Amino acid sequence: MVEDIRERICDSKRVVFVTGAGISQESGIPTFRGKDGLWRNHDVMKLATIEAFYENPRLVWEWYNQRRENIFKAHPNAGHKAIAELEKYVDVTILTQNIDGLHQRAGNTKVLELHGSIVKTKCSVCDFKDEITEKFLEIPPRCACGNILRPDVVWFGEPLSEDIWNNAMSIASQCDLLVVVGTSLVVSPANRLPIYAKQNNATLIEINPNNTEMSSEMDAVIRNSSATALPELAAIFRNNTIEN
Ligand code: APR
Repeated sequence: MVEDIRERICDSKRVVFVTGAGISQESGIPTFRGKDGLWRNHDVMKLATIEAFYENPRLVWEWYNQRRENIFKAHPNAGHKAIAELEKYVDVTILTQNIDGLHQRAGNTKVLELHGSIVKTKCSVCDFKDEITEKFLEIPPRCACGNILRPDVVWFGEPLSEDIWNNAMSIASQCDLLVVVGTSLVVSPANRLPIYAKQNNATLIEINPNNTEMSSEMDAVIRNSSATALPELAAIFRNNTIEN
């Protein structure tokens, strides 16, 4: 359990979290590869692709609009809030694969969205970008240039923004503790971040009820939900700060 790793982590100064859909599961937001992997009987892994978007932009927009509505109704859970509390005690950066914005709503100030954001849109042709602040009158929405807008997210097969990825690699390579929470670590290049941290002598912790493809690389694994394990992790740093 988390208490068992107290000695290994309590002196950490620069802590990086790599998070995935699992950390938002207890906020009621479905993960991708669990039992929730379907929407209107469509495989979400097929909907989150540029091919699906060009084949049926209306369907893909309807899926993202539904996800956005669900996310607006959701709230940060105890796991998100615990990582936000940690900012009081150590330097915390979150490298998230999630597009739901719950880390920011929980109060974290250093969050890198590797796969984009559900509240951002961009033109499929010109360089127009914008925040989505209200429902679109037409689906798919159109850019002033006449082309259709798309969600500003990274779909399967698309590259991450070079700036964001270079920044993420640099952050992961300079931390002394990297905590992987709620991700199956099957998607590249995000699944390489723990390796960069390990190459720079960081301690690696995994918080996930299930095994992942990289569990064997971890210094410790906590087979528990994030909403249970992360408050215990925050308590270690809180008590350490009080004692010193
Ligand atoms: N607490 C912690 N982990 C959990 C919880 C929980 N309550 N519930 C589920 N998990 C774990 C699952 O065991 C699984 O390993 O969360 C992980 C979710 O994995 P995926 O569904 O594959 O989601 P993720 O790893 O974020 O996917 C990465 O792939 O689908 C694309 O772009 C999308 O960002 C996403 C990326």
